[in-house]
Order: sequence, then C-alpha cells, then structure tokens
Amino acid sequence: MQPSYQEPIDSNITSGENKSFWIASEQPIVFNKLLQNIETDILIVGGGIAGLTTAYCLAKAGRKVVLVEDGYIGSGETGRTTAHITYALDDRYYNLEKIFGEEKAMLAAGSHMAALQWISNIILQEKIECNFKRADGYLFLHPTDKKESLDKEYAATKRAGLPTKMLDQIPGIAGEEGKSCIQFPEQGQFHIMKYLKGLSDAVINMGGKIYTETKAEDITKKGAKANGFEIKANHIVVATNTPVNDRVTMHTKQWPYRTYVIGAKVPKGKLPCSLWWDTGDQDSKWISSPYHYVRLEDYDDQFDLLISGGEDHKTGQADDEHIPEEDRYIKLIQWTKNHFPAMEDVIYKWSGQVMEPIDSMAFIGKNPGDDNIYIITGDSGNGMTHGTLGGMIVSDIITGNENPWEDLYSPSRITLKTTDDYLHEVGNMTAQLVDWVSKGDIKDADELKPGEGGVISSGLKKIAVYRDDKNCIHAHTAVCPHLGGILQWNNEEKSFDCPMHGSRFTPDGKVINGPAIGDLKKIHIKDEKVNES
Ligand SMILES: Cc1cc2nc3c(=O)[nH]c(=O)nc-3n(C[C@H](O)[C@H](O)[C@H](O)COP(=O)(O)OP(=O)(O)OC[C@H]3O[C@@H](n4cnc5c(N)ncnc54)[C@H](O)[C@@H]3O)c2cc1C
Ligand code: FES
Repeated sequence: MQPSYQEPIDSNITSGENKSFWIASEQPIVFNKLLQNIETDILIVGGGIAGLTTAYCLAKAGRKVVLVEDGYIGSGETGRTTAHITYALDDRYYNLEKIFGEEKAMLAAGSHMAALQWISNIILQEKIECNFKRADGYLFLHPTDKKESLDKEYAATKRAGLPTKMLDQIPGIAGEEGKSCIQFPEQGQFHIMKYLKGLSDAVINMGGKIYTETKAEDITKKGAKANGFEIKANHIVVATNTPVNDRVTMHTKQWPYRTYVIGAKVPKGKLPCSLWWDTGDQDSKWISSPYHYVRLEDYDDQFDLLISGGEDHKTGQADDEHIPEEDRYIKLIQWTKNHFPAMEDVIYKWSGQVMEPIDSMAFIGKNPGDDNIYIITGDSGNGMTHGTLGGMIVSDIITGNENPWEDLYSPSRITLKTTDDYLHEVGNMTAQLVDWVSKGDIKDADELKPGEGGVISSGLKKIAVYRDDKNCIHAHTAVCPHLGGILQWNNEEKSFDCPMHGSRFTPDGKVINGPAIGDLKKIHIKDEKVNES
C-alpha cells in the first residue's frame, strides 16, 4: 500500500482555467510525489485513461508497474472529456474502408466493441461505482451533409459487422422531425473521474505504484528522471496524450484541435438517456468536420445534466474563422437549445484538446525506432475506447501475448491513401509560420485588462504577455520551444496555445501540453513596457 497524501491539495490542477463537471464534482485523485530513486519493470508516463488502463492491465498480469503523472490523475484531457463510450467512430467507417479496406474497417469496429466490453467487465469485476450506463447512440445528418452520407455510413457499419439500425426518426431531439438516423445500440457512458478512481485503486491494490505531481523528463530506453530523481525501467509507456519523447516523427502524423463543451440543467425524465451525434459541418475549413456530441448525466434529485460539445477549431486558430473562443460557447448553447428546448441554465463550460490522426486511426504500440518505448496517441474524439485499447494492446506487446489489433494501430504503419488531407494539414501548418512576420494581436500591454493575455510583435520578436489579477505583467517569448510556432492567447482557458502541434503554456510560461517539454523563456519588463534586451 502506498502511504496516503501528506500535502495540501491544489484543486486547480487541470489543463485549463475552466473546470469540467467531472473535475468539479469529485475530489482530486492525488498520490504522493516521487521523492527517491526507484527501479521498476514498467514505467508508465501519464495518468489519463490510456496510462491507467495500461497500468491496470500490466499489474493484473503480475508485472511491477510505476505510473507517474505530472498533475493529478485525470488532470489532462481525460478529465475534460464527455465520456461517450462508443464504437460509432467520428471519422466514419466508410472513410476507414477507403483508407484501409473493408477487412481492416471490420477489425477496427471489433476493437472498439471489445474496448466497450472491457470497460463494462472491469467496472463489474472491480465494483467501480461510476454511473456506468448502457445507452443507444444516434448519428444524424448535419444540415450541410447529404442523405447519401448516412446511407453510406450505415452500409459500411453493416459490412463492419455492427448491430446498427437505420431509424426514420431521431429519438429525443427537436428540430430534426422526419429525418433518419443510424442507431448504435447499447453504447456506454460513465462518470470518468469515478472510473479513474476505481482503476487507480485497483492498480494500488495489485501492488502498482502511482506518483502525482511527478513530471517525467529525459525519457530514454533506460527510464526517465522526475523531480530530480531517477526511475530505471525495462519498458517505458508514454501515455501523455501527445508524445513528449519525440520531437518530430509523430507530430507530422496528427493535428491538435480544440473542442468546446457546455453542461445545462434539464428536468429529470424530460430526455431519454442516449448519446447523440451529428455528422459534422461539411463546409468547415477544418478537415475534421466539427460535429456536435450530446449526452445526459445524473445531476441531482430534480435535474439531469445535458452535456453538449462541438464547435471545434484547430488549436490556436479560433480567430481564423472570426469566431473567438467565447463565441464558440454562444454558438454551442444556441445549437443545443434548438435541439433540446427542455434545457435550462448552463452551469458548466469547458474546452479541451483532441489529437486527430491523419488516417483516422490512433497510434498505439512501439514508438518508431524504439524497442522498449511505447506510445498511445492520436485518439481523436474516440479516446475512451482508443485509450482503453492502448492499455490492452501495449500490455499484450510487453507480455508477449498476441493481439489482433497490434498491426492496425502500429505507430510505424504507412498509410498511402491520405494524401489530400495530409497536404491540407501540412499547408495549414506551414501557413502558421506567417505569424513570424505578421503583427501581434495587441500593440501594447496597456491594452490588456486583468486576466487577459496577448502577443506583441516587436520587430521579429514575438512576446507573450499576460496581466494578472493584481495588475502585474508577465512576459515570455511567444516562440514555442518545440519547433518555433508562434503562440496564440486562449482567453477562455487562459493559456498560450501553439497552432503547430498543440503545445500549451500557462500565463506564467509553464508547459501544460506537449510535445514541448520545456517552459517559455521569461522576458524582463521595465515600467510595464516590455524590455527587449
Ligand atoms: C472536450 C472533449 C470531449 C471528448 N469527448 C469524448 C467522448 O465523448 N468519447 C471519447 O471516446 N473521447 C472523447 N474525447 C477524447 C478523450 O477524452 C481523450 O482522447 C482521452 O481522454 C485522452 O486520454 P489520454 O490518457 O491519452 O490523455 P490525458 O488524459 O491527457 O492523459 C495524459 C496525462 O499525461 C500527463 N503528462 C503529460 N506529460 C507528462 C510528463 N512529462 N510526465 C508525467 N505526466 C505527464 C498529463 O498531465 C495528463 O494527465 C474528448 C476529448 C475532449 C477534450
Ligand atoms: S507544438 Fe510544435 S512548434 Fe509548437
């Protein structure tokens, strides 16, 4: 048994200013910091669903595991999810068939079905009380999409062996009368933080060790350093959502998107417990075709919480559509009201980041070029099942068990049929370099109100400035230490976000999300003016 946590808990540790319902409604899941050198068989970096599932599978297989988490358990993107557990893949089965062929699309369908079943089994076996429920999911057309898309997707799901049905109306939703949808029966949903707590307890009970506020640095095939101590390991699993052990390879194969969520009260019993998704905006400039995703969660005796998400954009590029972050919530609330008129007050709002893989399939397995370092990334909007598959596949590779999906998800796979999307995203990335010569978004720090930030341009220098609540200015370089992208201010989550590969930094320059591993360099200021020297 690990000793219990001794220090005061900072409940503000999450990857943004806004707290999700899951984080706000549970105590933080906290363990001691690492304060000594240790040796283990397997080191897992990252305490989200991918890292904890991996730790669980390997501890269950009798292996010695240590998991280290930079913040607290679930303080990354897992704590900001909406936790639909589904095999209705947001990149569509007909696209998977185009890229990988029918046989592999069927294999992918089987893998997500297995992940859903795995979660349901573990909840039973470990008696995890996490509000797990089975619920039917409904996929319906976005107004910009054509009926043929739904028919195509339905046919592809049938070829993939899924028990879907085409319905001629959409249960529970307004404003879409007389329209068809694909029903995905018996999907899942849960309270993600309660589930992570259950997995963490099980890992500890099986002899695993978990350390929080413990950031892994200098990851090599021998282990890593953390809090100034050394962790020696035979295998290292990097489950940090976006790999922090690789500068380039994986970051040309996936792209970061920001997605928005609101939670609104709805009188109990007004809506059926279901999952709803539209097929996404086909006219969007983003290749991910942003879509809406909605579900219910228990709130109190009188109300359920209607959790609705969407309005995505590429990280750091909200303004490219002239829709700043705060207006995304307004759009999302309007869309949700139109479709669920029973909704009442909006009591939560938060956003998070998803990594969109270039060929729609997550990257799970050995890091390209490494024998004992593994990655789990690229899980798109299906991270509950992809993260679970990550644990299942990586633990099989380490324990030498055959896994039917190892090749399908291999990070070293070569996918040939993705050229258009690839060129589009590379073009977008190259376009970000124009920010080097363009003006900043503010002229002077005087323009900032307390709690606001921005980027100032001074010659070729770009400076990230933030005015805190006590009116003090903080200034750092606005050049991302990963590969030199120019950071953009995110006024909703109070972070500086990199439009290239999704690294993010606090107003005080501390790295929140990789692939950057270091903080921003401080710039000294004099009399509230930025001093370039
Ligand atoms: C708003 C939103 C809604 C979503 N909705 C759904 C949904 O309904 N269904 C679905 O299937 N998926 C959904 N997703 C996707 C899904 O939530 C994520 O893909 C998934 O949670 C990612 O899990 P992870 O374990 O890979 O990453 P994370 O949860 O981000 O975990 C990685 C952890 O690694 C830690 N870390 C990073 N660097 C280090 C380091 N150097 N040392 C130690 N620790 C480190 C971080 O602090 C973090 O806690 C959604 C995502 C968002 C943002
Ligand atoms: S994340 Fe790669 S350049 Fe910023």
